[in-house]
Formats: sequence, structure tokens, C-alpha cells
Amino acid sequence: MAYIISLRKVTLLSIFIFIFCSPSMVLSQFFSSIQLPPTARGPESFAFELGTGRFYVGVDDGRILQYNGPATGFVDFGYTSGTRSKAVCDGATNPDLGPVCGRPLGLGFHYASSQLYVCDAYVGLVSLDSGGGLANLVSSSAEGEPYRFCNGLDVHQLSGNVFFTDTSTVYDLRNASKGLTANDSTGRLLKYDPNTKRVTVLLKNLTGPAGAAVSQDGTYVLVSNFNSNTTMRYWLQGLRANTYDIISTQARPNNIQGTLAGDFWQAAAMVKQPTQSLVPIGQRINGFGIVTRTVNFEPWYGNNLISGVQEFGGALYVASRYVNFVGVYSF
Ligand SMILES: *[C@@H]1O[C@H](CO)[C@@H](O)[C@H](O)[C@H]1NC(C)=O
Ligand SMILES: *[C@@H]1O[C@H](CO)[C@@H](O)[C@H](O)[C@H]1NC(C)=O
Ligand SMILES: *[C@@H]1O[C@H](CO)[C@@H](O)[C@H](O)[C@H]1NC(C)=O
Ligand SMILES: *[C@@H]1O[C@H](CO)[C@@H](O)[C@H](O)[C@H]1NC(C)=O
Repeated sequence: MAYIISLRKVTLLSIFIFIFCSPSMVLSQFFSSIQLPPTARGPESFAFELGTGRFYVGVDDGRILQYNGPATGFVDFGYTSGTRSKAVCDGATNPDLGPVCGRPLGLGFHYASSQLYVCDAYVGLVSLDSGGGLANLVSSSAEGEPYRFCNGLDVHQLSGNVFFTDTSTVYDLRNASKGLTANDSTGRLLKYDPNTKRVTVLLKNLTGPAGAAVSQDGTYVLVSNFNSNTTMRYWLQGLRANTYDIISTQARPNNIQGTLAGDFWQAAAMVKQPTQSLVPIGQRINGFGIVTRTVNFEPWYGNNLISGVQEFGGALYVASRYVNFVGVYSF
């Protein structure tokens, strides 16, 4: 009896410590970081291999890195721009080198064809096979309008169709970093069909479309409009085909990634009171925009916004253009 009571006391004490003491200590059991190579910065999104635990990430200087686990770490896998050289670009921080070095943003595998599709902010839609190296250009314009800012991407595994966003047909990534794009509504949602090799414009006049994610059954695509703080559901099939509705107004929505269970994780922001500052969050949402989980990443990212949260192997992998590590949040 005495033993049970003291055990209970210990349990209560540890709950007390868990809730009230040293947040960094307590929280660190959930969060770890994987450091990028010394000159790499700004992981924007991820693509995971099936079964191996290996993943791919695009960074600021134009490289696509492959992560091979803690022993080997990251190695160079590929690049998107034919004008990129390691001498000029590796570790480069000058934004005006972007068009020369490339800037891979959205990444996604089509597993059946072993293609890694990449939306490069300057180059457009490209693909790489398992050998990596220089990517093949898939598409750089649609309806005669070049992509100015290829951004989010997702692949429908059954059909092989690639859904992606062009954030603006006027402003590129450099202009966006200077805040010029706030009122721009020239963004597009696009679809690449690998069978016909054609790109279709699904939606235009969007306000800063960033992320895109297709439902497992291929009936709809979710699109995050970063600048208008809206998340749309665009119907591909059924009675509502070719129409959309707004399913969320969470601030600063960015990349969205599907989960095995058929719902989604979305990177976004929350307005913190009373300071009104923005803090980065990840939200698990379903196809109706209902939030089933929110994770606040402020303890590890402060006011740096995140661009992606992707569930893999029981953890959330966190991407942010403002840091030099990949966050791993276990839950
Ligand atoms: C976008 O930025 C580039 C490079 O700084 C500049 O040349 C271009 O004029 C800008 N575009 C607009 C529309 O402001
Ligand atoms: C966007 O529009 C608002 C309202 O008209 C204006 O205050 C703001 O300066 C504009 N921002 C940019 C970047 O043009
Ligand atoms: C998009 O915006 C342009 C310019 O404001 C307008 O002429 C056009 O009708 C719009 N298109 C759609 C599909 O809303
Ligand atoms: C989007 O949300 C941000 C952060 O709350 C806010 O500053 C901005 O004005 C919002 N934009 C629109 C178009 O509502």
C-alpha cells in the first residue's frame, strides 16, 4: 500500500515537473534537429523514399540534398538549373544568383515511375530520376505565360498527375522576399499529365498560392493562398468539378502534405496575443478544413515562419526557409 502511494506521489510530482518546469527540457524530448551541411540553408519542403527512411530536401543555394541517416548525413543529390556550378553557387547567399543557381521549392515523388518532381522558383517544373544530377525540364510555361514563381507541388500516385502552383506571373521569389507581392492576384494552380505531357491551368487569379495537395482518391486538390490567408478546395471530379470552396482562413498557409490516413498537415501561422506577432504552427486538417491537431513551433523557431510539416514514420518533419536545420517533432 505504502509503495503504491509513494509511486502515485512520484507520478504526480513528475506530471507537475512536466507541466510547470523548464519548458526547453521538457519539450526537447519531442523535438530534435538534423543539421544541414555547413553552407546549406533554408530547407523548404521534403520528399521521402518509401521504406528506406531516406529523404530529399531543396535548399537556398539551389541544391537538392539527400539525407541518408545519421551516419552518412546529407549528400548532394541533384540540381535544377543548367547554369548552376558548385563553385559559384554552393553556399551562395546573393538572391540575384537565384536564376543562375536555381531554388528548388516543392518536392514530390511519383513512386511508380521513380520520378522526383520539383517546382523550382526560377526554372519551373523539373524531374529527376534516381541517379540525380541535373534535372530534366518538364514545363516552364502554361497558356503562353511563363512560370515566374513555381512553388508548391504534389503528385497523385494513382494517375501520376502532378499538381503545382505558380505563385505569381509578375513577381518572382526575390520580389516576394521584399514584400512586393502582397496585393498580387496572378497566381495559378496547374496540373501536369505525364501521359499527354501537357499542363492545364486549373485556377488563375489566385493571391499568392503556395502549397498544393491532392486527395488520395483524386477528387480534389487543396491550395494554400499565403497572401490572402485562405485555403481552397478545388474539385477535380464529381458534381462540383471545376469549382472551389474556401475551407480555412488560417493565417499564412503554406505547403500542405497528405498523410497515410488521408488527411493533411499544413504549415501556417498563428497571431500571438497581445503582441500580434506571428508564430509558426502546423495543423492537421481534413478535407473539410476541420483542424484535428495544432502544434506550435515557436519554442524552436521563434518568429521564423515554417514552410512545411510532413508526417513520416511517426514524426513531423519541419521545413523553414529561415533556418539551417530540419526539425523533427515526435508525437
Ligand atoms: C523583381 O526583382 C528583380 C530582381 O531584383 C527585378 O529586376 C524586377 O524588376 C522585380 N520585378 C518587379 C515586378 O518588381
Ligand atoms: C496593398 O494594398 C494596400 C491597400 O490598398 C496598401 O496599403 C499596400 O501598401 C499595398 N501593398 C503593396 C505591397 O503594394
Ligand atoms: C483574372 O483577372 C483578370 C484581370 O483582373 C480578369 O480580366 C479575368 O477575367 C480574371 N479571370 C478569372 C478567371 O477570374
Ligand atoms: C493575412 O494574415 C496576416 C497575419 O495575420 C495579416 O497581416 C494580413 O493582413 C492578412 N492578409 C489578408 C489579405 O487578410
